[in-house]
Amino acid sequence: MSASILAAVPMAPRDPILGVTEAYVADQNPRKVNLGVGVYYDDNGKVPLLECVRRAERARVEAAPPHSYLPIDGLQAYDRAVMQLVFGAELAASGRIVTVQALGGTGGLKIGADFLRLLDAKAQVWISEPSWENHRALFEAAGFKVNAYPYYDAKTHGLDFEGMRAALEKLAAGCIVVLHACCHNPTGVDLNEAQWRTVLDIVRRRRLVPFLDLAYQGFAEGIDADGYAVRLFAGAYAPVFVSSSFSKSFSLYGERIGAFSALTESADEAARVLSQVKRVVRTNYSNPPTHGGQIVATVLATPELRALWEKELAGMRERIKAMRKALVEKIKARAPKADFGFVLAQRGMFSYSGLNKEQVARLRAEFSIYAIDTGRICVAALNSKNIDYVADAIAKVI
Ligand code: LMR
Repeated sequence: MSASILAAVPMAPRDPILGVTEAYVADQNPRKVNLGVGVYYDDNGKVPLLECVRRAERARVEAAPPHSYLPIDGLQAYDRAVMQLVFGAELAASGRIVTVQALGGTGGLKIGADFLRLLDAKAQVWISEPSWENHRALFEAAGFKVNAYPYYDAKTHGLDFEGMRAALEKLAAGCIVVLHACCHNPTGVDLNEAQWRTVLDIVRRRRLVPFLDLAYQGFAEGIDADGYAVRLFAGAYAPVFVSSSFSKSFSLYGERIGAFSALTESADEAARVLSQVKRVVRTNYSNPPTHGGQIVATVLATPELRALWEKELAGMRERIKAMRKALVEKIKARAPKADFGFVLAQRGMFSYSGLNKEQVARLRAEFSIYAIDTGRICVAALNSKNIDYVADAIAKVI
């Protein structure tokens, strides 16, 4: 008998982010803390169920709708609401934008990657150094060669804008440039508005293909302020591609609710693009699930639920900022020579803490505190009960 085709399947490495959660879940230490995955926890260490979501869900359950299929591109009310939120009302009404519901922000990236590959299989993709671990894997899995442009300066814990600018200036027309629209993952280091305008200028002159990843809108300064880069690009250039997500901003992680959008040059171009994007979706998973899209569409279209959402989102944002401040102060009190002040300037859920691989390993082995090997920690997982424990541990390993 010949060996099974499975006999020689090699073991794949654990996912660098979700694999940390697997290890955390298996840990029996009651004091364990998961600073690995990008998930917002409230001060009780729980993933919140937003009140706006609870109300929209209750209305949906009471209406007891049948569980039919959605269209290939998703719930139309959802797609419209995303378009308006991400691009603003005026552009959304132009007929030039294609938005399709996707399985989270990752799903939006994958639809975009598969679609772009159909257009130009030889195009190269450029991601930031460092970037979200899955960016490289996802674009490579779609068949692209993936390269990196400089982004983070470890010496200053800030942006290497000169390095980034110089690298982008050298790219050939048609290169796909993946940009984190706000709350850069993993560093928390963002471009300022003048730097965004410089990047747009390069993209325009060199005819690059910008693909903006907008997974944390509302976690830096607010919904509008965090949409600056997308609206800047969309108002001045085409095509612009965007993947967006409500996993974090609606705390709807498991509902896998996000979108892929393409800003085109005309309504006619948009219709053709949509027809191709629908083929990508149909051949992958046919059509998206209903629940998350329905909840988000209801909240965004109902003025009092929308206002409630903005308030709840602001509450998450402010709590993260308070945790940044507390962490810096508490480490300072325990290790006066260590300066973690840079954590205050970082935005969104993450901090590139500067902890090295050995220090991260010690946090895990000695304290059951789980961070990403690169030193990325999720500040949104800190709370008033675990922060002293975490600050103690960090002070001991540095
Ligand atoms: C993260 O970076 O932790 C999140 O975006 C979750 C994920 O899918 O990796």
